[in-house]
Amino acid sequence: MKKIKIGLAGAGWIGREHGRNIVRHPRAELALVCDSDAEHVAQLRQETGADFRECQTVNELWESDVDAVVIATPNALHAEMCVAAARAGKAIYCEKPMAISLQDCRRVREAVERARVPYLIGYHRRMNPLYQHARGLLDQGALGTPFMVESDYLHHVPGGLDIWSWLGKEQIAGSLFHAGSGHNVDLIRYFCGEIKDVTCMKGIFMPRPQQVETEDTAVALFRFESGAIGKVQFCIGPIAPFQFNFKLYGTHGTVLNNRIWLDTMPHFAEAGHERDGIELPAAWIPDNVQGGVGEPWDKLMDHFVALLADGVACINDVGSAYQTSLACFAAVESARRGTTMAVRDLE
Ligand SMILES: NC(=O)c1ccc[n+]([C@@H]2O[C@H](COP(=O)([O-])OP(=O)(O)OC[C@H]3O[C@@H](n4cnc5c(N)ncnc54)[C@H](O)[C@@H]3O)[C@@H](O)[C@H]2O)c1
Repeated sequence: MKKIKIGLAGAGWIGREHGRNIVRHPRAELALVCDSDAEHVAQLRQETGADFRECQTVNELWESDVDAVVIATPNALHAEMCVAAARAGKAIYCEKPMAISLQDCRRVREAVERARVPYLIGYHRRMNPLYQHARGLLDQGALGTPFMVESDYLHHVPGGLDIWSWLGKEQIAGSLFHAGSGHNVDLIRYFCGEIKDVTCMKGIFMPRPQQVETEDTAVALFRFESGAIGKVQFCIGPIAPFQFNFKLYGTHGTVLNNRIWLDTMPHFAEAGHERDGIELPAAWIPDNVQGGVGEPWDKLMDHFVALLADGVACINDVGSAYQTSLACFAAVESARRGTTMAVRDLE
């Protein structure tokens, strides 16, 4: 069987995770790796023992024989790289965020649609077994109509880490709410559909040696086209363990992280009914552990390969990536203006 040849742009923290997941995949080949820092490529070679070619400039990736590329470079580079990759006819797995400005998100969407290449955005948590299970219950009608949803991302990223060399800078990382809580916005969209309007407050609160330029904390309230309402809370830096919570309230059932209640369960109407909830493995709750069950980067890479090898429907395509980014930009704009923003007003 012919393997899908994949090129990797960026062999940093997440790029090496993707590199390892491509190498272990029986139907994929890590053919070419590009990073401006040769040490990162050497580290990936050492970790995988794989015999891939390497290059220092991404143009060599677009000109190469690879079928697909994984873009895992800093945020500001995603747009140019995706546009170039699409023009070269390569299928694209792009790390989040799609781009750091709405204009660039539009350019990427146009380039991908014009070239008709497959595109997958790297919101890997959709593949988490908790959310796949909850989504199955929603699709079967067991949760009823979702009317309220909540998701948060609170992550103590110590101020001294190398990543702050770019993460806090607006020109390189863009909005940190978009970069970090794009995951949450994507997830609430996965369950409740498109967002109509958003009200957001944000600020910079945590001290750190290199201060961030956009925001390190935000709370955003959403109204969906369906009429459902939701909340996303974001903080990079709190003195607390990593948290990524998800709560979905439907007219017939509720999901609170790994615990689920349905009104069809026996004794539901009685006091103490919480004992009757379904408890899924706590290990499925996202925990930021590299490659863990709760952080299924491997499953999203499997999906990318299946997309290319078997033509399965894409779980998060360029149009969907655009909607998540649009809602995040609307949140940032709402905080800037101090008012509720209708998402369509940014279009
Ligand atoms: N989906 C997730 O959960 C997740 C997790 C972490 C990071 N990310 C995203 O992945 C991207 C990378 O993040 P990271 O934490 O791995 O950062 P990183 O700094 O560890 O890695 C970035 C890599 O890109 C390389 N690079 C920079 N400019 C380049 C260029 N012009 N050409 C080739 N290589 C270049 C760097 O040398 C580095 O190896 C970011 O967009 C980030 O938002 C996503």
